[in-house]
Amino acid sequence: MLTSPLVLLASLGAGLVQAQQPTLDDLFVENAPSSPRPYVIPHYANSHSVTIGSQLYRFTVTGPSSGYAFTLMSTNAPASGSLGVLPHIHRRHYENFFSFKGRFQLWAQKGDSEQQGRLLTSGDFGSVPRNTTHTFQMLDPDTEMVGVIVPGGFEDLFYALGTNYTSGTDTPFVPKASSDAGTPSGSIMSSLKKYDVYPELSFKARRDLVNGSAPSHNSVWHTGNNDLGKPGKPYFLASGYGPKYLSSEHGYQVIQPLVQPKQAEDLNYTISTLSLSRQTKDSPPLYTLDGAAAFEVVEGALSIQIGDFPLATLLTGDVAFIPAQVPFTYYTETAFTKVLFVASGNNSLDQQLISGGQEWNFTSFPKY
Ligand SMILES: *[C@@H]1O[C@H](CO)[C@@H](O)[C@H](O)[C@H]1NC(C)=O
Ligand SMILES: *[C@@H]1O[C@H](CO)[C@@H](O)[C@H](O)[C@H]1NC(C)=O
Ligand SMILES: *[C@@H]1O[C@H](CO)[C@@H](O)[C@H](O)[C@H]1NC(C)=O
Ligand SMILES: *[C@@H]1O[C@H](CO)[C@@H](O)[C@H](O)[C@H]1NC(C)=O
Ligand SMILES: *[C@@H]1O[C@H](CO)[C@@H](O)[C@H](O)[C@H]1NC(C)=O
Ligand SMILES: *[C@@H]1O[C@H](CO)[C@@H](O)[C@H](O)[C@H]1NC(C)=O
Repeated sequence: MLTSPLVLLASLGAGLVQAQQPTLDDLFVENAPSSPRPYVIPHYANSHSVTIGSQLYRFTVTGPSSGYAFTLMSTNAPASGSLGVLPHIHRRHYENFFSFKGRFQLWAQKGDSEQQGRLLTSGDFGSVPRNTTHTFQMLDPDTEMVGVIVPGGFEDLFYALGTNYTSGTDTPFVPKASSDAGTPSGSIMSSLKKYDVYPELSFKARRDLVNGSAPSHNSVWHTGNNDLGKPGKPYFLASGYGPKYLSSEHGYQVIQPLVQPKQAEDLNYTISTLSLSRQTKDSPPLYTLDGAAAFEVVEGALSIQIGDFPLATLLTGDVAFIPAQVPFTYYTETAFTKVLFVASGNNSLDQQLISGGQEWNFTSFPKY
């Protein structure tokens, strides 16, 4: 099992002088690079960290690092008694929220439709298309919210609002008591149109959530299946309750789409989670994608070999970025590894696995 990727590596490396081979030290970086190239960022590495009040933001894929395909970011913070940001709209950017750990509350309202509120626990997902009023609140002492924003470059807002941050310990967030979340005021928010932020100061976040959901009379939240939303409308998928597909080609993978081409519309991207079984036969296939892509490990350990770089192993929270047209292969040696997959284009890896797979009703793969 271990030998096949090494054989693959050897064949990829054939013809190159030994000294030109990039190393793992070249692949692993602290900060997202200033132009697209393969890289891995460990969980909690600096990656352009900024603080806004008690929240610590990291940008593992940026506009520059992805050719402006998407931004992948994380927000670590303790519980807060107030909203993490004033309610606002983006006209050009589609924002997605994935609960990595802890709990946060997310509100979204499109036009005149009823305001939606959900309490997101680990693995839950909320999708906020353009021109949707939204805000959030951190609820647990150890909360990490992962964000995917399309197109890339939206991190410029946080660079402008936040305070650059460095740490000698890579601590998830600054352990200090804070009387409020330190969120920017309405007048500051109103000066941010150039960053595609339009405050909605009349929006009142509803507090009538029952069982993690409002409205409570008709929303299905951790009680039954959730569907992806209609284009342009916000939607929420509880962990494991969305659509699922099984790919059986090289070990098993359970694919759970979070955003599909239909929801992405002209923004031309997809997000899915992939849950991998241990690779037991064949060498894993080599993929070459039309668009940029990224993996973030949610559970387990992912082995990935990108371009001419050596095989890398990613642990929970680590991110790998793969530029368009750079061949890569991936698998796991653990029993179960789950990754968040983000990609530009509407025929990326997740779409290929879904079309080569079958509909499936479980988060786990078959026993043989
Ligand atoms: C903060 O960091 C960003 C990039 O992460 C950099 O462009 C900017 O110059 C820094 N600002 C200060 C004041 O150091
Ligand atoms: C968002 O709203 C703005 C202002 O009304 C409009 O110009 C833009 O076309 C809208 N975007 C989408 C994707 O509907
Ligand atoms: C929702 O909350 C109500 C009131 O606390 C409780 O009685 C009910 O069992 C809950 N329903 C579910 C499906 O969790
Ligand atoms: C795929 O993306 C292109 C470019 O955004 C778009 O024109 C096309 O409609 C998409 N296809 C589907 C099936 O959504
Ligand atoms: C959609 O994305 C793919 C991959 O990045 C790219 O090749 C294609 O040109 C894009 N299509 C449009 C219409 O933007
Ligand atoms: C999934 O569940 C549906 C509805 O119960 C059922 O019709 C379908 O056969 C199931 N599919 C699989 C692969 O088990």
